[in-house]
Amino acid sequence: MTDNVLAVELEGGAGGLEKALRPRGFDDYIGQREIKENLGVFVDAARQRQSALCHVLLHGPPGLGKTSLAHVVAREMDSELVVTSGPSLERQGDLAGILTGLDHGSILFIDEIHRLSPVVEENLYSAMEDFRFDVVIGDGPGARTVPITLEPFTLIGATTRTGLLTGPLRDRFGYTARLEYYDVAELRFIIERASGLLGLKIDPEATLELAQRSRGTPRIANRLLRRVRDYAEVVGEGAVDVQITRHALERLGVDPLGLDRLDLSYLEMLIRQFKGGPVGIETLAAAVGEQADTLQDVCEPYLMKLGFLQRTPRGRQATERAVEHIGADALIGEQHRLPDI
Ligand SMILES: Nc1ncnc2c1ncn2[C@@H]1O[C@H](COP(=O)(O)OP(=O)(O)O)[C@@H](O)[C@H]1O
Ligand SMILES: [Mg+2]
Repeated sequence: MTDNVLAVELEGGAGGLEKALRPRGFDDYIGQREIKENLGVFVDAARQRQSALCHVLLHGPPGLGKTSLAHVVAREMDSELVVTSGPSLERQGDLAGILTGLDHGSILFIDEIHRLSPVVEENLYSAMEDFRFDVVIGDGPGARTVPITLEPFTLIGATTRTGLLTGPLRDRFGYTARLEYYDVAELRFIIERASGLLGLKIDPEATLELAQRSRGTPRIANRLLRRVRDYAEVVGEGAVDVQITRHALERLGVDPLGLDRLDLSYLEMLIRQFKGGPVGIETLAAAVGEQADTLQDVCEPYLMKLGFLQRTPRGRQATERAVEHIGADALIGEQHRLPDI
């Protein structure tokens, strides 16, 4: 398929677009070097033995490439990938149906694996350990279990936080990988690759600006790139330069460090309302008007990476740097406001 044909296909909606931008093999999966190296060894070993790959748990904030990595591993294993998610496996039968349909070496990807119901999770234990599914027939004293033998398969689970998983489930994974935020050089690669696929002309300075303001997250880099493209097409001449990029990012409420509106309202609330903390996460969440889980999964890991936030036994506390940033930022807003294009 040529890039042009792909570029046309990419217009078919955000879902299709995200799929098209997804890396295919280990080679186009940028960054996460250690995880890729480890998985590469396990994949080679499993292929040599002609056995299923060990069960893998991927964790990390949204948009860092967990789903993409599951696809990449399936492709490198030459295996079928079956995709489902914790919340959609409500009953035992839902899981039984999927597991009994797997072939030798198939990969089952369960997204949001921390949201499995307890009964489904318990069924998963024997499936993972012994490739056996125990069907319960009848109930009460007359109930009996009939074991069904499964083909050896690989479970890849994804979650935003391992702390949300029960111990017994966590223990059954052969390899657990924590995905890290991407550095600017890696994000530049990702943006260059995506603009190539989109057939978009973007200059290096604009790529750097986007990379620096993508919150270390490939999904955000790709999303901002598409929005910047919209601005470039409507208010510019189609090519993306650094001025259009800055204009678009300011309009989108993305600050110079890549913090978005939710991050900023988290910090402002913590600093202005609660005098920098410490304050409990539930109190903070209520004040911001957002779920505590979202703040914990999405905002806090990045704010901690920036050194803006500390989690103490007494609650969340803003650092000196965060206070400086929020203060300095209000000034920057006035002085460096870009002219409307
Ligand atoms: N390592 C990577 N290299 C290149 N692009 C990536 C990488 N990780 C993620 N992406 C891009 O970011 C998007 C979101 O990644 P995804 O795998 O859906 O994240 P998650 O499942 O962790 O939320 C993907 O569609 C892909 O375009
Ligand atoms: Mg995902």
